[in-house]
Amino acid sequence: MTAQNPMQKFDITPEDIDRLVAVFYERIRAHDMLGPVFARAIAVEDGPEWRAHEARIAAFWRNAIGIDRSYDGSPMQVHVANPEVMPGMFSVWLDLFGATAREVLTPAQADSILVLATRIGDSLRYGVTQRGQVRGAPPKLF
Ligand code: HEM
Repeated sequence: MTAQNPMQKFDITPEDIDRLVAVFYERIRAHDMLGPVFARAIAVEDGPEWRAHEARIAAFWRNAIGIDRSYDGSPMQVHVANPEVMPGMFSVWLDLFGATAREVLTPAQADSILVLATRIGDSLRYGVTQRGQVRGAPPKLF
């Protein structure tokens, strides 16, 4: 399939993203290290709070890929504000995301979304590493 939107970075449909997100967060919930962090932030039990989180994440990916612009959040703020999200967790998250993408998507789609995830993950990890070092400084608006 060819992408309809000229801003779209690679060929993937919203349905592909929904599948990836559903399987990924099912594995996150069962993960020894990451599961408890998400359980405390979202919900212990699988249910409506998790569906809402997955819908937000799917919108985030559609935005990152250029499919639509419905996502209006700030992942940097969310991760920096959650003191349980530690720098050392990012490679674990990315490994799980990569393994899931390779199972759920075509190899080309998986390669492409992993490039994006790695770039965004590196930036979030840096933000989390800097957490606390700007205490007392004026808020960064841009
Ligand atoms: C150390 C690895 C990570 C952990 C432990 C983690 C954890 C979390 C948690 C617990 C939330 C729920 C929100 C909250 O805390 O209040 C969240 C939200 C989110 N995460 Fe992560 N995350 C990680 C890596 C990533 C990466 C690499 C990406 C993107 C490539 C990402 C994208 C998002 C987005 C888009 C949200 C929703 C933000 C919003 O509410 O708009 N996360 N994450």
